[in-house]
Amino acid sequence: MGTEWVAVGLSRDLPAGVAMPALWQGRELAVWRSASGKLSAWNDRCPHRGMRLSHGFVRGETLACIYHGWVYGTSGSCIHIPAHPDLVPPATIKAETFLCVEAGGVIWVGAAGATDTPPEFAGYVPLRSVATQADAAALAQASGLEQAAQGLLGSTAAGGVCLILSTSQTKTTIHALAAKEADRVALSRWLDGVVRRAEERVLA
Ligand code: FES
Repeated sequence: MGTEWVAVGLSRDLPAGVAMPALWQGRELAVWRSASGKLSAWNDRCPHRGMRLSHGFVRGETLACIYHGWVYGTSGSCIHIPAHPDLVPPATIKAETFLCVEAGGVIWVGAAGATDTPPEFAGYVPLRSVATQADAAALAQASGLEQAAQGLLGSTAAGGVCLILSTSQTKTTIHALAAKEADRVALSRWLDGVVRRAEERVLA
């Protein structure tokens, strides 16, 4: 069985030196990009006292927890404990890691050790991400797009569009991709209208 790849953001929204929270199959993750551009996705809990690592600071190729400053390398292993500067941290102090890759300008997270690759959408380029309380069914109805493996796909007056949907219990995040020849400004306005109509359906 293939890995369940989940889109957690667009590449351009996570620049080097930044950490952000994400959801994968109900798990809370910290996704961060090192100074050299390496992406990592970890359980969003510090192995020390459970602080959210997505609140931490990226320094070079490391992520430092905001609470007591424990420093983790890109492998997830703790490499420095400020309160014990001469201690070599035991190898058991390690953040739980997930697979995190980029394809077509989208950041995907999969289970550690996955051997397959995330979906690719040839001919489409990233437009923008939008979070909404509307669910996938309401978005499908409001957009008039066809159901596809990772969300919704179809054409609009502004050109072709693909809406990759990542859902949790309380919200849906839409990662919108536009066909290369589409009118991006018009498509972005169309997307705003879809979200508004879908939310009106949910609240009705
Ligand atoms: S909780 Fe992260 S360093 Fe203490």
